[in-house]
Amino acid sequence: MKKLLTAACLMMGLALSPVLAMADEPVTLYSQLGGKESIRTVMDDFVQRLKQDERIGDQFKFTNADRLAGLLTEQVCEATGGPCTYSGRDMKSSHAGMVITKAHFNALVEVLVDSLNAAKVPFALQTDILALLAPMHRDIITER
Ligand code: HEM
Repeated sequence: MKKLLTAACLMMGLALSPVLAMADEPVTLYSQLGGKESIRTVMDDFVQRLKQDERIGDQFKFTNADRLAGLLTEQVCEATGGPCTYSGRDMKSSHAGMVITKAHFNALVEVLVDSLNAAKVPFALQTDILALLAPMHRDIITER
């Protein structure tokens, strides 16, 4: 009888272990996005699309795609609760001196949505990400 109980307890423990392991890690927007590798994949695609975009592509003509995708990954990782620290310049100084209108900003957001759709990121997560980025328009748009 004792053996049977021990076996039952062990089996319960095994059955519950995935649930308990998940409870260890908080559900963040970062984890829902699939972590840093998944974010990097989206950002690589995003930068390529930006370069090809007929509205704003020219502004990214000389941009080092690898560097920008890396910085965007850090930024999104940090903003979504992931274990990253953004190492680039702040949004105001990195966009100062460029001509960036509201239309440019909206075009960039549209391109980002294209990349998120291509990566099959669910709509609810997309809106969460956009909500994090939207307030940055104050520091990024230079022409009002
Ligand atoms: C939410 C919107 C945006 C975010 C999160 C964002 C983010 C960034 C980041 C992280 C960098 C790199 C900063 C560094 O060099 O340290 C950067 C650079 C840059 N951004 Fe943005 N940006 C946004 C909107 C825009 C828009 C609307 C434009 C123009 C259409 C733009 C054009 C550029 C350009 C040309 C660079 C320089 C890239 C280079 O080094 O060649 N950005 N941005």
